[in-house]
Amino acid sequence: MARRKLYKFSENISRTNLIQQGKELYDQVKGNWGTLVFKNNQPIVLELGCGRGEYTLGLARLSPEQNFIGVDIKGERIWYGCKIADEEQLINVGFLRTQIQSLGDHFESSEVNEIWLTFPDPRPKKGDAKRRFTHPRFMEIYRRLLKAGGRLHLKTDNEDLFLYSLEVAKSMTGICHLAFTHDVYNSNTCSAPNWKLPPVMKLCFLKKDSLLNT
Ligand SMILES: C[S@@+](CC[C@H](N)C(=O)[O-])C[C@H]1O[C@@H](n2cnc3c(N)ncnc32)[C@H](O)[C@@H]1O
Repeated sequence: MARRKLYKFSENISRTNLIQQGKELYDQVKGNWGTLVFKNNQPIVLELGCGRGEYTLGLARLSPEQNFIGVDIKGERIWYGCKIADEEQLINVGFLRTQIQSLGDHFESSEVNEIWLTFPDPRPKKGDAKRRFTHPRFMEIYRRLLKAGGRLHLKTDNEDLFLYSLEVAKSMTGICHLAFTHDVYNSNTCSAPNWKLPPVMKLCFLKKDSLLNT
């Protein structure tokens, strides 16, 4: 293994803001993020496939009244987010190194207030559909982990993934207020018409609250 990668992995072991296999908290955090990790009861927001964690860090700086957890399987990417969070003393940020498939081992049903999927791998091959972050098997996990009224956001610049995800969301039960835009930068939510960027598409929905039937 390259020396730089080994160095990052050894730093990851000593980072208190990173939960990963081999650390005590890895098997204990489920249902206990507030008490064991953040020491408060603030709402929990996840970014799945966070890469270097820039989006997680950005959201955490903007909203100190919420706890943010970046999840990714790649230790050398997540290393960056852990380091910056430590340097900036962002106490409302944590990182979890695990597979999205295993989220249920680390979060209790209804433990999460919000989930962000930021530019996930499009996985265009038909045979890879099961690995898309918006495949029904994953969406079902997200729905279970979200509290009633909890929100899921997807941002992508890949039209095929966007259309696929929209169809999956439309076919789901137990969600409401599905909203989407084909071009975030040219919609009312954010206008920057001169940016020479590919359109960023966004969809979001709420987990239905069966009590309120919303
Ligand atoms: C295209 S990158 C996006 C990174 C980041 N969200 C961004 O916008 O820069 C996708 C990320 O998802 C992670 N990833 C892919 N499959 C995963 C899985 N099954 N479980 C956890 N992370 C995964 C990869 O390691 C990678 O960092």
